[in-house]
Amino acid sequence: MRRTLIAGNWKMNGSLSSIETLINGIKNGLAEVTNADMAVCPPAIYIPKVNELIGDANIGLGSQNICDQEAGAFTGELAPSMLKEFNCRYAIIGHSERRSLYSESDELVAKRFAMAVKHGITPLFCIGETLQERESGVMEDVVSRQLDAVIDSQGIDAIGQCVIAYEPVWAIGTGVTASPEQAQAVHAFIRNKLAALSEDVAAKVQILYGGSMNAANAAELLSQTDIDGGLIGGAALKADDFLAIGKSA
Ligand code: 13P
Repeated sequence: MRRTLIAGNWKMNGSLSSIETLINGIKNGLAEVTNADMAVCPPAIYIPKVNELIGDANIGLGSQNICDQEAGAFTGELAPSMLKEFNCRYAIIGHSERRSLYSESDELVAKRFAMAVKHGITPLFCIGETLQERESGVMEDVVSRQLDAVIDSQGIDAIGQCVIAYEPVWAIGTGVTASPEQAQAVHAFIRNKLAALSEDVAAKVQILYGGSMNAANAAELLSQTDIDGGLIGGAALKADDFLAIGKSA
C-alpha cells in the first residue's frame, strides 16, 4: 500500500520567529496524524534552523530546489551534498513557479532530478498544465511531455525513486481547487502511462495533488484512489491547518 505524504511547500515565506512557531506547532500535534507522513520544504536559508527545530521528530525535511551539478561556479544554487548535510530527504523539482517565472526547461528539470536521485534525495517532481493548456485540450500531452523528460533521459525506474506532484497551475494559490474527480482523472492518467512501462513503478509511486488544498477539501481529495497525498502551499504556513490536512488522510 502506498503511504500518504503531506508535504508543505513554504515557498518564499517565513521569518526566524515564524518558522519556530510553525515547527513547534506541527510537533505538538504530530501524534494525532496517524495515517500520513508529514514533511516541510522551507526557503533554503532556513533549512539548517528547521533541521535543528525538527530534532528527532518524525517530520521530513526538503529543499525547494537542487542544483544539477555537484559543486563549483554555480552562483545561487544548492549542491546536493549541502542539502544532505542538513538532512534533506526531499527536493522539490520542476515547480511551476520555477518553470514559468525562472524559465526552467524540462531538460534542466530532468538534470536536477538526476542529481537528486544520485545523492539519495527524493525528488518531489512537479508537473501540471496551465488553464490555457487544459482548455485547449492538450493537458495530457503537457503532463506526458513533462514526465517523458525524466523517463527518456533516466529510464522508468528513476520515476520509482521520486514522488510525483500533480499541480494544475490554474489551481495554485488561486483558491480554485481541482475537483476530486478532475484530480483523480489526471492522477489515473499518470499512473496508467507509467504502468504501460512498468506495473511495478506505477503501483508504488506516490502521486500527490497540489493546488489550493486545505483543511476543508483535503479529505475528499485524499480519498481518491490515485491521490496519495498533497503538496501544500498557503495552508502549510499555519500548524493547525497543516495538521488538519494530515489528520484527514
Ligand atoms: P497553494 O496550496 O498555495 O495553492 O500552493 C500549491 C503549491 O504550489 C505547492 O507546491
